[in-house]
Amino acid sequence: MAKSFHGQLFSNKVAFVAGGTRGINLGIAKAFAENGANVVVIGRNAERAARAQQEISDIGGGQALGLSCDVRDYDAVAAALKTTAEKFGTIDMLVSGAAGNFFAPLVGLSPNGFKTVIDIDLIGTFNVFRASFDYLTKPGASLIAITAGQSEQAMPFQAHAAAAKAGVNMLTKTLAVEWGPAGVRANLIAPGGIEGTEGVKFLSSTPEELEAAVKRVPARRLGQINEIADMAVFLCSDASAYVSGQLIYVDGGTLTGDGSFGCLNPLPR
Ligand code: COA
Repeated sequence: MAKSFHGQLFSNKVAFVAGGTRGINLGIAKAFAENGANVVVIGRNAERAARAQQEISDIGGGQALGLSCDVRDYDAVAAALKTTAEKFGTIDMLVSGAAGNFFAPLVGLSPNGFKTVIDIDLIGTFNVFRASFDYLTKPGASLIAITAGQSEQAMPFQAHAAAAKAGVNMLTKTLAVEWGPAGVRANLIAPGGIEGTEGVKFLSSTPEELEAAVKRVPARRLGQINEIADMAVFLCSDASAYVSGQLIYVDGGTLTGDGSFGCLNPLPR
């Protein structure tokens, strides 16, 4: 496998990426590795975790470790963080990106459907952040939560994700305020529509819907995973040393939550 390792920015640094076994979060994990970091990724599926470990390791930056772990299980998350610190040292970059979502109107959501997304996105982010404190590099650690435009702007069919991510926003901002004096920063990235991701697949199920969605993006294209990863690299580098508690959109200028899907009927006919 060709080595694409190309930087020393995070040489000897340690990254932990929850949900980093696929999609945007795997892209972030790879970008950390390309810059020399040792990277641990966790995800629910053991096979995907092993595959991600191999892919990150093939980059030839630092070492990689993929662990099977559900962010809904606090003890399992705490154990994964402990393993990371024991193997590589304290954690410099921590990403909470594990998410669950589907497209459903409020009247089609069961209590368990709503709770499941709150558990993965909001409780999961609490678990990852809360359990990390003892293992963070202090001062110096940078934490990132992946959020979404619907956390700030109502979007039909997304009540569960919108409520969960709104909680993630305030959890992260509060953490930035409380842990700032210890030298820990925390920020949020809200990706727009990113090509090839689950999010784009289920939020635009037909080519026509996708075309209409892209037309609403001022950049007139979907984003790329590496464009989210670049923001994560920035937020974990010294170039952003005085940036904390911020929610940054990487969405081609969409200011997402522009009434997308407002033309569809979320109520029973
Ligand atoms: N519409 C309405 N309800 C749905 C649904 C849908 N499309 N998909 C799942 N649910 C409900 C289920 O019916 C269930 O509720 P019930 O017990 O009342 O029937 C509840 O959600 C939990 O579903 P389950 O499949 O048991 O949960 P899970 O923990 O195995 O999976 C999900 C979690 C549902 C979020 C699943 O979509 C997932 O794992 N996604 C991971 C990837 C992902 O979504 N990424 C998003 C990136 S934006």
